[in-house]
Amino acid sequence: MNLFNMVVNYMILKVLTEKNKKLAKVCAEVKCFDNKLHKLLDNMKETMYKNKGIGLAAPQVGILLRVVVIDIGKDYFELINPKIIESSGEQQNTEGCLSCPGVFGITIRPKFVRAVGYNRNNELFEVFGENLKSCAICHELDHLEGILFKSRLAKFKDPAPNKLFWKK
Ligand code: CO
Repeated sequence: MNLFNMVVNYMILKVLTEKNKKLAKVCAEVKCFDNKLHKLLDNMKETMYKNKGIGLAAPQVGILLRVVVIDIGKDYFELINPKIIESSGEQQNTEGCLSCPGVFGITIRPKFVRAVGYNRNNELFEVFGENLKSCAICHELDHLEGILFKSRLAKFKDPAPNKLFWKK
């Protein structure tokens, strides 16, 4: 094998942390489904895997576009200009975010969601999420509105209030 033929065609991107103001912005729709977008998606995918995340949104890497990648461990998919068209039920999850390293909290999310979005070839498709996948879709789409999981904490009255906590 000729080592000179091995080409790394992606880059691991820097993930912004929550104090960065870009994470609080509403992202713009993607208009151009070009090579630049494909490159962004490839880089986001590798960045998500490298950081052991189950999802990543473009604003987390400083790009204010409506682009997310998700893989809860079963199937990888990309969603561009996504919209949730239906949601039902309720679930609690211990949730974290690559932009809030080490911080977790118990959130309330819909148990089921149905979303539509475009793939990298500008083809519309539908995705159905249940349980963790529903949580991941909601979490990543929230990023496109500048919302972090900390605003989705479950409200417990008894016996103890829901608080953010740290773990390794
Ligand atoms: Co996140």
